Amino acid sequence: MSDKAILEYKGQKYEFPVVEGSENEHAIDIKTLRAVTGGLITIDPGYKNTGSCESAITFLDGEKGILRYRGYSIEELAEKADFLEVAYLLIFGELPSKKELQKFNNDIREESYVDEEMKNILDGFPKSAHPMGVLSSLTSALIAFNPIPVDIDSEEEMYSAVVRILAKFPILVVWALSKRQGMPLNYSDGRLGYVENIHKMMFKRPHREYQKNKVVVDALDNLLILHADHEQNCSTSTVRIVGSSHAGLFASISAGVSALWGPLHGGANQAVLEMLEAIVADGGDTKKYMAKAKDKNDPFRLMGFGHRVYKNFDPRAKIIKKAADEVLHDLGVDDPILEVAKGLEKEALEDQYFIDRKLYPNVDFYSGIIYRALGIPTEMFTVMFALGRLPGWIAQWREMRQRKEPIGRPRQIYIGENLRPFVDIEKR
Ligand code: SDX
Repeated sequence: MSDKAILEYKGQKYEFPVVEGSENEHAIDIKTLRAVTGGLITIDPGYKNTGSCESAITFLDGEKGILRYRGYSIEELAEKADFLEVAYLLIFGELPSKKELQKFNNDIREESYVDEEMKNILDGFPKSAHPMGVLSSLTSALIAFNPIPVDIDSEEEMYSAVVRILAKFPILVVWALSKRQGMPLNYSDGRLGYVENIHKMMFKRPHREYQKNKVVVDALDNLLILHADHEQNCSTSTVRIVGSSHAGLFASISAGVSALWGPLHGGANQAVLEMLEAIVADGGDTKKYMAKAKDKNDPFRLMGFGHRVYKNFDPRAKIIKKAADEVLHDLGVDDPILEVAKGLEKEALEDQYFIDRKLYPNVDFYSGIIYRALGIPTEMFTVMFALGRLPGWIAQWREMRQRKEPIGRPRQIYIGENLRPFVDIEKR
């Protein structure tokens, strides 16, 4: 017997079914609300209380700090899987067998190139262009070279589109970096694994041999896993709503890149580093920045803190914080920024303002410290987030299309002028 919700409005009672998920979450199904009540709708800016869909991909429990991809805990996946395995799991729903993973890897290798004409588009950007803007544009431009829309009901066509975007997106990421650094545009090396190949394309220099560094490649692989999906966050919701108009996969991913760019979302990892550098430049005065973060008249926020869903530690932040210590130690990097970050975290966790609002470090708070130790420039941090989030965006887009979800088109409550007659310009 499913639960019901009763709404009483203007002396009339209305009953709505309650949907129950596989992890005991419940939602009032208001699909018929406007019809049965003669026009009543709900309003919820930022969708803090509103579910947009039912999904089988990622489960979050914000109160307990739980994150699972297709039922597997983020802690186990980060420790035991590699990024391409996790990408396969998110997109196709099951961990791949050895044979499936080998085929997936080989198929991606075969597609790891982009049309040379893409360089003409890249050349149009000034070196100073932010890599996220370059990435979003190049992703959209890929459509010109992959114009056939995916038949969502064809498993073969869907698989081929997934392979193409997973193969080509990293090249766009690397080219956005190389453009900014004035470096040659490197190509894929089919002899290497997926993440090692990305690392080589990013760091190979024309005047010296590429040196593989297992610590760096493993850290990168781990960070990409931790960013791979996060249910209906801002950029994923963007990918879903753009895809709901039946815009193509590449166009939807391009929109997701733009949404991720914002400093309240994926852009926070760059903003955290800039904030920590400002604190170090300011003599390490963390108290001043804590006061700014709590001052309602000051737009400054403690970047890397707080989360719409997590009202406990972000499980990814815990893993990344531990990894930061290990990676910096293994690389022999002594970065004062890490100690400032730890000091700031300690202060915030003991501060009543943060305690009352359940503001904890999120995925962006420590990730930039590792990226920096790996030699990745600050303005590329959000691009690395996008690289990690790509499989999640693909998985969510595919699920939305395969479930034949309707086009996303929210309603509103109008608060503007009532009807008024036009006024000729001479009389205004
Ligand atoms: C990501 O959704 C996802 O899953 C995202 C993500 C993913 O994997 O896709 O996890 C990745 O985007 C992580 C978040 C990265 N952003 C930041 O670190 C930017 C700093 N954080 C905030 O701006 C904020 O916490 C958000 C945007 C993350 C969440 O904002 P909400 O849920 O809309 O909460 P809110 O702005 O209504 O804040 C509630 C209260 C307010 O104070 P009061 O008005 O109640 O007095 O908490 C305060 C806020 O002022 N607050 C902060 C704060 N975050 C919230 N105060 C100071 N510093 C902060 N960081």
